[in-house]
Amino acid sequence: MKIMVVGSGGREHALIWKIKQSSVVAKIYCVPGNAGTAELAENVEIKADDINGLLKFAKEQKINLTVVGPEVPLAAGIVDLFNKNDLRIFGPSAAAARIEGSKVFAKQFMAKYGIPTAQSGIFADKKKAKAYINMMGAPIVVKADGLAAGKGVVVCQTVEAANQAVELIMEKKEFGQAGAQVVIEECLIGEESSIIALTDGETIVPLASSQDHKRIFDNDEGPNTGGMGAYSPAPVVTDGLMEQINNEVLLPFVQGMKQEGIVYKGVIYAGIMVTKAGPKVLEFNARFGDPETQPIMMRLKSDLVPILEAVIDGKLAGQKIIWDERAAVCVVLAAGGYPGKYETGLPITGLDKVHQVAKAYVFHAGTKIEDRTEKTEHRLQISTNGGRVLGVTALGDSLKFAIDKAYQAVSLINFKGMHYRKDIGGKALKLVR
Ligand code: AMP
Ligand code: GLY
Repeated sequence: MKIMVVGSGGREHALIWKIKQSSVVAKIYCVPGNAGTAELAENVEIKADDINGLLKFAKEQKINLTVVGPEVPLAAGIVDLFNKNDLRIFGPSAAAARIEGSKVFAKQFMAKYGIPTAQSGIFADKKKAKAYINMMGAPIVVKADGLAAGKGVVVCQTVEAANQAVELIMEKKEFGQAGAQVVIEECLIGEESSIIALTDGETIVPLASSQDHKRIFDNDEGPNTGGMGAYSPAPVVTDGLMEQINNEVLLPFVQGMKQEGIVYKGVIYAGIMVTKAGPKVLEFNARFGDPETQPIMMRLKSDLVPILEAVIDGKLAGQKIIWDERAAVCVVLAAGGYPGKYETGLPITGLDKVHQVAKAYVFHAGTKIEDRTEKTEHRLQISTNGGRVLGVTALGDSLKFAIDKAYQAVSLINFKGMHYRKDIGGKALKLVR
């Protein structure tokens, strides 16, 4: 079987690492990929959002299954386009992916189907948005409606900061059309966790629980990022809480989509805040989380490919998914300056030493292979090529062991300006003690 994975992050590297272990797979392409995926798959220079280019390539190469990582091609309708051309593809249609692509749609959907979430208002007029902020007071959260590469959410500690966020999104149009409407939301307090589930439109099966670390600095300080590290399982998600999330979020989600006339096939990711009043949905994503997918794939014992195929074929009900009982931890190594401006093209050292740490693996995100051949000396160098550069991931008999191993592997790697959080998994350790 020939498989194409669309994307170039740690998530895609982890998916390919897992797909590569499948007995039914003969060849994997990664589009566009990174230096890590190049070791396991053939990278192809097509942009992840060039859906017509991807279609052409899939037809030429007779790809049997395409797996989509990022949200942009999903929102652009890659699944609809491939289906129209009789090509098999894993992911939701554009109509279904609106659950991530429009926060206004997501809030209205949650309200309609009784899914617990923060109290909020939706505004297309900035004066009304500000009046609502003044009425509600701080802390308060301002969200651009559309896709903003994970940067469209501002958690504001003061009314002034919230008004500034409205200006930035609606007046300065920082995120373009994505900011034509805003959602202004009550600030929820609690522990966050990521519930990533698969659904074929009828059956919904949660994957192992996980937790991301959104803020750039230790102790959850500083601005939000795409995610600075993750672990699985998340001890905050007890069996009882998982059942509650299943009944109050996942099942109503599938029922609601059906009632809207949408067959939702693929991943549904619910970002959950576990508040004193129970679990509440912060956001829905229509794709695998990153970095969460890195520890999750490390714990997945079953072959991933038949599971993805069962989603496409509407046969998820018969699938059994087996997990490694051990814990996995991923520490993201970021470029200096991220999530703001950062340099690229910086040589990375130590990647060849990580094999010394058993059960540790480095998933690449923003990396590329540079040809540094000088005169007669042929040399290829792996360099930085993004904000989140690597996801150093390790499996351990306990969460503590997994954390120690991940950081042991981190200590072998270096590049100029490298920055990472030192407290990944720390909060969970307190819970399991
Ligand atoms: P989102 O893209 O909606 O998940 O927002 C990104 C991050 O902002 C979340 O993971 C939370 O850390 C934070 N966040 C979003 N909405 C809220 C809220 N209503 N209350 C508190 N924090 C929030
Ligand atoms: N880690 C958060 C996300 O994938 O959106």
